[in-house]
Amino acid sequence: MVEKAVDLLTEAEAREELSRLAKAISAANTAYHTLDAPEISDADYDALKQRNAAIEAQFPGLKRPDSPSDRVGGAVAEGFGKVPHRQRMLSLENAFAAEDVTDFDERVRKFLGYLGILDYTAEPKIDGLSLSLRYEGGVLVQAATRGDGEVGENVTENARTIADIPQRMTGAPAVLEVRGEVYMSHADFAALNARQAASGDKTFANPRNAAAGSLRQLDARITAARPLRFFAYSWGELSDPLAPTQFEAIRRLDAMGFQTNPLTVRCSGPGEMLAHYRHIEAQRATLGYDIDGVVYKVNDLALQTRLGFRSSTPRWAIAHKFPAELAWTELLGIDIQVGRTGALSPVARLRPVTVGGVVVSNATLHNEDYIAGRDRRGQPIRGGKDIRVGDLVQVYRAGDVIPKVADVDLSRRKEGAQVYVFPSECPECGSPAHREEGDSVRRCTGGLICPAQAVERLKHFVSRAAFDIEGLGAKQVEMFFNDPALPIRTPAEIFTLAARDATNPLQKLKNREGFGDTSAAKLFTAIEARRTIQLDRLIFSLGIRHVGEVAASLLARHYTSWDAFESAITHASPGTPEWAELNSISGVGEVMAQSLVDAFQNPAERQAIDALVAQLTVQPVQARGRVDSPVAGLTVVFTGTLEKMTRAEAKARAEALGAKVAGSVSAKTDLLVAGPGAGSKAKDAERLGVRMIDEDAWLQLIGAA
Ligand code: IVH
Repeated sequence: MVEKAVDLLTEAEAREELSRLAKAISAANTAYHTLDAPEISDADYDALKQRNAAIEAQFPGLKRPDSPSDRVGGAVAEGFGKVPHRQRMLSLENAFAAEDVTDFDERVRKFLGYLGILDYTAEPKIDGLSLSLRYEGGVLVQAATRGDGEVGENVTENARTIADIPQRMTGAPAVLEVRGEVYMSHADFAALNARQAASGDKTFANPRNAAAGSLRQLDARITAARPLRFFAYSWGELSDPLAPTQFEAIRRLDAMGFQTNPLTVRCSGPGEMLAHYRHIEAQRATLGYDIDGVVYKVNDLALQTRLGFRSSTPRWAIAHKFPAELAWTELLGIDIQVGRTGALSPVARLRPVTVGGVVVSNATLHNEDYIAGRDRRGQPIRGGKDIRVGDLVQVYRAGDVIPKVADVDLSRRKEGAQVYVFPSECPECGSPAHREEGDSVRRCTGGLICPAQAVERLKHFVSRAAFDIEGLGAKQVEMFFNDPALPIRTPAEIFTLAARDATNPLQKLKNREGFGDTSAAKLFTAIEARRTIQLDRLIFSLGIRHVGEVAASLLARHYTSWDAFESAITHASPGTPEWAELNSISGVGEVMAQSLVDAFQNPAERQAIDALVAQLTVQPVQARGRVDSPVAGLTVVFTGTLEKMTRAEAKARAEALGAKVAGSVSAKTDLLVAGPGAGSKAKDAERLGVRMIDEDAWLQLIGAA
């Protein structure tokens, strides 16, 4: 077929041509990635994509919703599509000592009111990255990374290139989401790094980074060339249960064709769990892939359901981490970094040393007490040994966390080594740096006048879980912060950037080095795209102390709109109803509440917040909990003895169904659930005319009877 030059095409021909190209490119993708049997050469493939792109450029209005330019598998693709997880992808609580494991078992049994010995599964914790695979009718239809747990990245094309991941299977439920870990073996990692080095490409620090870097390739052909593997260990949405227990469910996944870890066993109680931990630890070095601990899960899936979740971790599982890796090296110096909340953090500059396969040259020294060899209460740590520049120090690294200086070898201390004096002034702005009582951290009092705090706040503001503005990362924030002509010093100024640039008498952004017409326009578009923002992201982005991502989400789901949130925090102070309400939110404590109130009362902060919000459209957030639940929105109080569940379980379940659980009866109480022995609360309820029911009626009401 002779191809007509793009600029000679009529609109109708162009439409037809785009449709033909979409089909041809998709067929080529399938042949290449799925069937592993390419039908056309790479050059022909590129030619198809180029022609498609050229026609789209000529006729932008004709670009198809399923345009191949937006798909992975080609150079034109820009980032991954987003996939909201129908069931959140959670992380795990960590245990370090054997005691943490026995505590975990006790907590679980207490929550359930279970007196006997509980069964758990125990299996290696694979050091890779998690992936959720969705099968419909036994066919793989989507693969998504964890992302922030709620929304991941669509890496379907890439996942299709992994041999351990079945493309189709028989005997699966109609809807099956399998979750597990993508990882790379030691041997494959070493070979990959050797190839990368030979071709002058970047090498990876460890197998985990290599696996992540390989899976998150925009061009799935690169992923296909990387030896990735996959272990299945969990699941998300299911149309039918897999089995009654965790262990049998995993066996079923194995039978369907997934790789499951052969070191997965059933254990009765903490004694057997710890024994299996030691067994796995003993095998660790010879497994041929990285693991960083052992995961225990309650075996009975009905009990898992009863146990449910905290904000981001299940109550029925825990990760028992292996001890960290250690190395000794010289402390070359101590730098002080000023963080977003003004905290002065001492950073150890080290003679570079390899710790567990990663070269470490910086490590945290926590705070001034830590350097001096004492804890917050003044009690000695490390036997009271202080740390001095020039010392031989022990560096330790556990998983992905920042390496720490753990110990010091006094026998190697150099003569004349000076005691380290922690600064009492901010090294960035010169403001006094104070320590509040009970706080181990010294903080710069400069607030927003401290350039370090202001920059760190901005970096936080544009970070992934906050405003996540494409093209405006930490590096660009630093550049704009110090820009004389077009500065960004506050979050609000991000949103006035385009307007200020338009009226700028000096050099325009597009004429700057590193920018051009397209990149400047792109940045403005990316900023504009974030002018509408969800409430939870906005709250998190403010960078208020103690208010992290999880807390921001809890607050947003409680107040649902900016106006309600803003008014509540503005009026909250100890003793007010707003204060009581704020503190009643499960997951919000007094410290966080006070921090929010302080931020909203500080004039400079308040002005910055108001100026920002004036630039934005804030999208309300849906309250969590099932909307169709009969108790959603009700304030419930439990009293007396509950016989079918523990108090903790009753509370967690009510909250999961969207009810608020209060500790005492007031005029705001909707329902009192009273067991035998109910005392003063029942009287209060009677006096206030609050509806009162027993435990069975409650279970009936929530559909659990
Ligand atoms: S279970 C709700 N099992 O560890 C439970 N996770 O630190 C979901 N991981 O995000 C996780 N090996 O990426 C589970 N055998 C295993 C695991 C495992 C590795 C990862 C997973 C998770 C992270 C939590």
